[in-house]
Amino acid sequence: MRLRPYTHDDEVSAREANEVMKNDGALLLLDLDDGMAWDQWLRRIDEHRRRLSLSVGLVPATQLVADVNGVIVGSARIRFSLNKDLKRTGGHIGYGVLPAHRRRGYATEILRQALIIARSQGVARVLVTCLDDNVGSACVIERCGGVLEDVIDIDEGSRRLRRYWFT
Ligand SMILES: CC(C)(COP(=O)(O)OP(=O)(O)OC[C@H]1O[C@@H](n2cnc3c(N)ncnc32)[C@H](O)[C@@H]1OP(=O)(O)O)[C@@H](O)C(=O)NCCC(=O)NCCS
Repeated sequence: MRLRPYTHDDEVSAREANEVMKNDGALLLLDLDDGMAWDQWLRRIDEHRRRLSLSVGLVPATQLVADVNGVIVGSARIRFSLNKDLKRTGGHIGYGVLPAHRRRGYATEILRQALIIARSQGVARVLVTCLDDNVGSACVIERCGGVLEDVIDIDEGSRRLRRYWFT
């Protein structure tokens, strides 16, 4: 499995994968507005990665695709710094694996590679969070060496979030 940047040629398969993830309650592609051309989105995420044209409150970040022999199995978002909200809830790294490819270790490998990328960009302590009832994600984070800091209330106490640090 390789975590790599999206390319022009990924459009059809990435959009399809995004729809599959959407139906499962998550998103593969962030910041892809309705009707947005693929190359415009590629430019947008590249600017975001290169710290260009960031609107207020946005932090530099990258979106990568998890590719297994040319097949999209999941994705990762890596943020290179945190704002107030990200520090409390979002964390540095988010990931997802398509339902058809789960339970094969891909999320664990995505997080392992994403941690290397985050550190290569100077993030010394990496925060990764997941909902308290997301057993799979908590297991992935713990397998990769995350140390639980706390479990906090979010959404006015209706849901709880586990916050892990990698040092
Ligand atoms: C959570 C998620 C990323 C896990 O992806 P995955 O590729 O299946 O994870 P892995 O194969 O690396 O799982 C590693 C271990 O986690 C545990 N695990 C994973 N999914 C699990 C589940 N649904 N229930 C219980 N344990 C689970 C297992 O112990 C698994 O190891 P095993 O298969 O050898 O038993 C995936 O289910 C997903 O994309 N969910 C929707 C989006 C999401 O929740 N993203 C994370 C947001 S923080």
